[in-house]
Amino acid sequence: MFKSYNPYKLEDKMKSLHHFFSENMESFLGYPCNGKFDYRSLYPFLDYPLNNVGDPFVSSNFALNTHNIEREVIEIFQDLTKADKSETWGYCTNGGTEGNMYGLFLAREIHPNAIVYYSDETHYSVNKIIKCLNIKSTRVKALPKGEMDLNHLNQLLYDNQNKPAIIVCNVGTTMKGAIDDLKGIRNALKKNNIKRSYIHADAALSGMILPFVKDPQSWSFADGIDSISISGHKMIGSPIPCGIVLAKSENIDHISQEVEYVGSKDTTIPGSRNAISPVFLWYQLKKLGFIGFQRMIKKCFDVADFSIKMFKAYGIEAWRHNNSVTVVFKRPSDYLIKKWQLAVNGETAHIITMPHVTKRKIVSFVKEIAEDKKRALKQVSSL
Ligand SMILES: Cc1ncc(COP(=O)(O)O)c(C=O)c1O
Repeated sequence: MFKSYNPYKLEDKMKSLHHFFSENMESFLGYPCNGKFDYRSLYPFLDYPLNNVGDPFVSSNFALNTHNIEREVIEIFQDLTKADKSETWGYCTNGGTEGNMYGLFLAREIHPNAIVYYSDETHYSVNKIIKCLNIKSTRVKALPKGEMDLNHLNQLLYDNQNKPAIIVCNVGTTMKGAIDDLKGIRNALKKNNIKRSYIHADAALSGMILPFVKDPQSWSFADGIDSISISGHKMIGSPIPCGIVLAKSENIDHISQEVEYVGSKDTTIPGSRNAISPVFLWYQLKKLGFIGFQRMIKKCFDVADFSIKMFKAYGIEAWRHNNSVTVVFKRPSDYLIKKWQLAVNGETAHIITMPHVTKRKIVSFVKEIAEDKKRALKQVSSL
């Protein structure tokens, strides 16, 4: 049986938990979560059992919801992703994974016999979703810098010309920030005479970068995608994981059902849905506005370039893709991976210059990486 704490002990425990987070935030370099936000004025909303159950565009018997705010967030993302408002629909998710699940769920309902094509650099959520949905799939090789290998895609499509194709297009891969060539993917579908296809864009991080740059790669509804998943806690920043999924309205009918119990349409994956995170997203989007995000992202690029220069000054190779804030370099020691909370995959490591990552932090970090490299070289030469 669990026992109640006395109020002082409870308070102490919460203080030490808070201290743990504030200390660790100082060395939070490897993951794409913006830690710079202030939602304190939203605390009063924690007084209510809010729930966004059901379709945000259909009224519900459950009045304690933020559907109106959620709809505004969706409308902003329709603009950002160049979606036709009359032909697209969306909702606020629990994060990028749910948005990927939604896109692939719709795709499978439309094309039950399809094969999913996704690259070796695709986020692990897609592999899991494919298992959950029990869809046939095949993996496409990735090029050394992370983009889908279109020669391999062409070969795989050629071998399966009689089957519909569902393509997961990476709009910013997890490890290298690479963007798959959407035009090339569409050409490959055409060239191989694939009559029925669906393109889902996984734009977890870069979906909130590309709308704000001068020279975006192809990635949007205007470029031919059918659905898109973007994380909210990544570039926007939120204390609760969240995201956005958008899809073509005509495809939603394949999964929609009326539910008398909540008096709404069931068009989303979860039943009960977070009603606070759409408010966080709305608040930050409205606080900064388009220009504010543009400035913020420019600063992130600036810090990314600064870190590449720093690495180079110490003779360490580091790089980033155009329009990416993911700086890639060789895997350092396990000690530094843990200390700076770095994301690694095999011999590759990265930092992501999110808005809370300052040049001052980069200076300390790169110095430690350089010392680490020196130590490793010394050890090798003493063998
Ligand atoms: C490319 C990509 N897709 C999907 C996800 C999953 O997003 P979430 O953690 O919000 O579920 C991530 C997470 O890092 C990602 O990098």
